[in-house]
Amino acid sequence: MLTPSPFDQDRWVAAWRFAAAAHAPQRFPGTDLPYLLHLGMVAMEVKAAIAAEPGRNGDLAVLCALLHDTVEDTPVTQDDLAVRFGPAVAAGVGALTKNAELPKAERMPDSLRRIRDQPHEIWMVKLADRITNLQTPPTGWSVDKVRRYRHEAVAIRDALGAASPFLLTRIELKITAYEEHCR
Ligand code: NI
Repeated sequence: MLTPSPFDQDRWVAAWRFAAAAHAPQRFPGTDLPYLLHLGMVAMEVKAAIAAEPGRNGDLAVLCALLHDTVEDTPVTQDDLAVRFGPAVAAGVGALTKNAELPKAERMPDSLRRIRDQPHEIWMVKLADRITNLQTPPTGWSVDKVRRYRHEAVAIRDALGAASPFLLTRIELKITAYEEHCR
């Protein structure tokens, strides 16, 4: 018997199209490339993890990966997501959205607390997001900023790593590799 896909391909396509439209004007930081590049990388990391760790809610994980920046970066609201993709996806993306009304330093700790109230699939999206973002920092970032970004990655690892041994290993590798940019 064929193994079923860990997620519904038609829901993937619907979320991918929705994200492509919502983020259409947005560029990948520091480039002329579409922002969709970032979303594809996050979804890929999540897919690798759900393939390695069966038993996850694959739909929840991949839909939230594809949609995770819609509320933070576009006019899309959590209510829009609830109507289109259901309450669990809307709640997951809500937790992954930083609260712009808080002082900057409190936004990530607040989001991490809200993510920890969500299913492990949402923790995995945040881990995957930071894994993909631990690449060569954009030119123009000071060493101080790069160090703070690394420090924040350590906080994400510590808060959420328990959700997925696979992604924990992966973020550890990325944090170590990122050290070369911190000096
Ligand atoms: Ni992101």
